[in-house]
Amino acid sequence: MSTKEEKFKSLLRSAAALVAGESDEIAKMANLTALLHQEFGFWWTGFYRAIGNELILGPFQGPLACMHIGYGKGVCGTAWAEQRTVVVPDVEQFPGHIACSSESKSEIVVPVRKNGDIVAVLDIDSRELGTFDDIDRCYLEQLTQLIYPTENEIWFAAGCFWGAQKFFKLVKGVTRTEVGFANGDTENPTYKEVYTDTTGHAECVHVAYRPDVVSLRELTELYFQIIDPLSLNRQGEDVGTRYRTGVYFKNEDDATILKEIFEHQRITYGDNLAVELLPLKCFYTAEEYHQDYLDKNPNGYCHLGPAVFEFAKRFGSK
Ligand code: SME
Repeated sequence: MSTKEEKFKSLLRSAAALVAGESDEIAKMANLTALLHQEFGFWWTGFYRAIGNELILGPFQGPLACMHIGYGKGVCGTAWAEQRTVVVPDVEQFPGHIACSSESKSEIVVPVRKNGDIVAVLDIDSRELGTFDDIDRCYLEQLTQLIYPTENEIWFAAGCFWGAQKFFKLVKGVTRTEVGFANGDTENPTYKEVYTDTTGHAECVHVAYRPDVVSLRELTELYFQIIDPLSLNRQGEDVGTRYRTGVYFKNEDDATILKEIFEHQRITYGDNLAVELLPLKCFYTAEEYHQDYLDKNPNGYCHLGPAVFEFAKRFGSK
């Protein structure tokens, strides 16, 4: 492994630790800039944020720089428009290069993505020709992913969805939750329809989470702690197929992890395990008054006791 790769590997570890738990993107950009700039001694290191149809200067280290760059203009605008990292070995050879400083000889611009959309670019300038290559591209692309970590999703049916939502909201790393109806046979069901127990839908919590903070395995193991996995179509006092337990996934990577967890559960519970493991067929968000129900109605009914919520907090309080 080259020295540069080793340096990047160690920098990535420091960078991940540095921004862990921080939600403000400017703060993250600022410290990542400082880390990169100091570690590699670049000429200019910084971010431009995509706002409207231009890039606007963000946190940076180095000499003064231009503050606005149009979409498709310069190396930065090209990386944005072409949605890819642009490596420029010699800035003189790049048509339309914007020279903020005559000292800059080579450059790399890496897009920063938020849920797939480019929201900023990381721009690094060097005083030497040909400083950047595929190694820089590979590691800098990983570095920029730390700013807006990808969200993963999973769907848990755990009996009445009010308590299950309250539980998962308390778990560190969970970014969003919503309650709804999953894997039934009717389109856009209402609560009233699902209550008849004839729609095939299960009350379910859609959980979005940051995989760098909490893993699918951890979430699923927590899930098993709050349900009675042997109880078929019943959790607490709630009875019916709508109260069945199940884990519903959207991709094959998740399926592989979940199948392994379920195999372990089957060793413990045998064929009596009453929890489904299935691909998510459909999910319909429940009416607004069901969302965050127990926050709105602190004395509302819940088959999960206060100890369960304390348990969620102990796992990693937010
Ligand atoms: N050279 C860049 C402009 C930004 S400065 O390098 C800081 C470009 O052509 O987009």
